[in-house]
Amino acid sequence: ASPKALMSMNFAPLKNDTFLRALLRQETDYTPLWLMRQAGRYLPEYRATRKGAGSFLSLAKNPGFATEVTLQPIDRYGLDAAILFSDILTVPDAMGLGLYFEEGEGPKFERPLKDEKDVMALKVPEAGSLQYVFDAVTQIRTALDGRVPLIGFSGSPWTLACYMVEGQGSRDFHTVKSMMYKRPDLMHHILRTNADAVATYLNAQIDAGAQAVMIFDSWGGALADGAYQEFSLSYMRDIVSQLQKEKDGKRIPAIVFTKGGGLWLEQLADIGADALGLDWTMNLGQARAKVGDKVALQGNLDPAVLFAEPEQIRKQVIAALDSYGKPAAGHGHVFNLGHGISQFTPLESVSVLVETVHEYSRKQRQS
Ligand code: CP3
Repeated sequence: ASPKALMSMNFAPLKNDTFLRALLRQETDYTPLWLMRQAGRYLPEYRATRKGAGSFLSLAKNPGFATEVTLQPIDRYGLDAAILFSDILTVPDAMGLGLYFEEGEGPKFERPLKDEKDVMALKVPEAGSLQYVFDAVTQIRTALDGRVPLIGFSGSPWTLACYMVEGQGSRDFHTVKSMMYKRPDLMHHILRTNADAVATYLNAQIDAGAQAVMIFDSWGGALADGAYQEFSLSYMRDIVSQLQKEKDGKRIPAIVFTKGGGLWLEQLADIGADALGLDWTMNLGQARAKVGDKVALQGNLDPAVLFAEPEQIRKQVIAALDSYGKPAAGHGHVFNLGHGISQFTPLESVSVLVETVHEYSRKQRQS
């Protein structure tokens, strides 16, 4: 066997597979949960590690630090999955765009795609340029020692293109949408390249030890109906079709999350993913009725609920679990927030959330 195959055979057996079972729409004793951005600035231990490392990028690019911060929320709370500590923008960074962060600001690129020449020069990153990510995946999976599954992830081709063309985050996506409508040929060239890069990237994360993968389409919801299908959905379908479905005899579920994608739920359920992420604008019960037994659902508490008092948090969590209803054969629910957890979230609120999801969902199954 190759050294890689030997390495994956050495991972400890999984002690808690509740998350994977829910994604695959198998029965579970309770509703599993994890939180988008669960390793982050709301945790004092994260802020301490980050201070020592110097910056977010020096954390993300160092597998030892990435392992440490990935495990922090797992150690503090009884979450049911770990997510690789990294960022969606590692891929365009490896394409040569020069990712950087200025203190107190979001991500930026030194060399955004400004014109046809930039776009036509774009290439799938060289093998090796993202090796630090795959090393982190293997190191995290080893450190988890089978406690919970490890999620790998990437951005969607469209969401990556937003940052690559705008050069940073945007309120209205003026530059990237202008290119999309004026020069759809250029936009399709970027998206085609991104889709191949992402498929290769996710498959390499699976080879390195990721047990599920998630595609973040954070800005798909900014697109018009019609444009969404052409410029975001179709490329996610293409990626899902390129993903390896099994590793070491275990199914590797794929989750797709279009923030603001509620209108397109039925179409999303048809692209071959195992589960769909939902933002907080959606009604879980109605979403479940729409997708039937095609896909599991993941979501969708408003992250702002965590700023309320414990009693209110409990009420809102129970309302979400009741809205989804009692899981039945062929259905699956993974509890999560509707978007990333805020850096200002009180630590105690997360304890209340985790306890309530676990306790109430067990009771729900017995009723
Ligand atoms: O969920 C996790 O705990 C895993 C880690 C993770 C990060 N980014 C770490 C991070 C994941 C899954 C992401 C995905 C990501 N990154 C997305 C898609 C999800 C979403 O939120 O819609 C996007 C759009 C990005 C791009 C990005 N990276 C932004 C907009 C920012 C700034 C936001 C902020 O909170 O400051 C980042 C930086 C970033 N990525 C941080 C973390 C923990 C904050 C870095 C820090 O200052 O320590």
